[in-house]
Amino acid sequence: MSRLLVTGGAGFIGANFVHYWLEKYQDDRVVALDALTYAGNLVSLANAEGNENYRFVHGNILDLDLLDGVLREEKIDTIVHFAAESHVDRSIHGPDAFIETNVTGTHTLLKAAKSVWLDAGSSQHRFHHVSTDEVYGSLESDDPPFTETTPYAPNSPYSASKAASDHLVRAYHHTYGLQVTTSNCSNNYGPYQFPEKLIPLIVINILAGKALPIYGDGLNIRDWLYVEDHCRGIDLVLKRGKVGEVYNIGGNNEWTNMDIVKLVCRLLDDSFANDSQLAGRFPDSPAVQGKRAESLLTFVKDRPGHDRRYAIDATKTRNELSYEPKESFETGIRKTISWMLDNEPWWRGVMDGSYREWIDRNY
Ligand code: NAD
Ligand code: TYD
Repeated sequence: MSRLLVTGGAGFIGANFVHYWLEKYQDDRVVALDALTYAGNLVSLANAEGNENYRFVHGNILDLDLLDGVLREEKIDTIVHFAAESHVDRSIHGPDAFIETNVTGTHTLLKAAKSVWLDAGSSQHRFHHVSTDEVYGSLESDDPPFTETTPYAPNSPYSASKAASDHLVRAYHHTYGLQVTTSNCSNNYGPYQFPEKLIPLIVINILAGKALPIYGDGLNIRDWLYVEDHCRGIDLVLKRGKVGEVYNIGGNNEWTNMDIVKLVCRLLDDSFANDSQLAGRFPDSPAVQGKRAESLLTFVKDRPGHDRRYAIDATKTRNELSYEPKESFETGIRKTISWMLDNEPWWRGVMDGSYREWIDRNY
């Protein structure tokens, strides 16, 4: 039986991971810790409420005393560290929070783990750090995908802060012997993703009949990973990964932004054609006006320093851990769109408040 601390548990991937773990390992203890920033939503964890093996702690990873207390009180043996500022556009407008949470916050968590585990002589522990393919920089169209040995070349304040945190995790292993693993994954999508990220933003804008903003020429490429495949990948790293190692987790699924937006447009046009109730629920959507969703496509100014392409070579994770993504993009996107249509109160709720104000101030 393991006792997990999941930082950032009320965020997109963290909440999916909490649900995944509680369902798969029913005897394990899962403590979700989250500062509930604009991106953290307790309602994403509502399905875990009532499970006696689950607890939520409202707290900040910058708070060393709190972390120390939770690790001791809950006898945590495994940390899965998701908590971060995660949106590249926000890091361009305000990098400070990224340095505080992603660099200083990760370092505070490492210090707490070192003091509680190493100073007590624990030999059975794991600190798993969740990072991103963005630390490797940007690829040209004919470059080979990133491997675990690709030199770091982060280009945004977000990716630079994640790169710094990766180095600190590595250093705590080499210097102090903390038992760490790190995974670097590609762009996730799926349920509970905050609607400032491309896929949920496009779905919601189509439903509201609003412009679909395409940065630059729309030909930037990302590798897309269904969030449950990512959770399974982390599970494999925790169960079978070697301490001190880094594992890339990808979706074998490279798409241009333009093609993704067109796919989402097509699937939502089909949804309106097949479900007459949608017209009543979303009267401003283009389907109700007899138009195609693609009519909302709008080119906007490019993101400064916009990385052209990310792609992951997950050969090591496949060979050593038998990791393989299960979801195809078409099935994953369909699941995501139906989840959003079935969970309108969730996305309406998270879009109230600070997110709206921030968009209004910056765009
Ligand atoms: P998210 O922004 O949806 O969630 C982050 C969570 O961390 C939120 O619940 C927020 O409240 C919490 N948080 C922020 N600052 C905190 C602090 N100081 N103390 C405690 N909690 C704090 O992010 P996500 O998309 O779920 O990403 C999770 C992790 O995965 C991040 O480390 C991110 O860098 C990494 N990652 C994400 C993606 C992706 O496509 N979403 C891709 C690669 C890597
Ligand atoms: P995003 O979801 O912000 O993830 P990341 O920047 O971490 O890859 O963006 C994915 C891609 O979509 C990225 O190339 C930027 C682009 N994009 C748009 O074209 N329009 C948008 O409104 C957003 C949010 C992103």
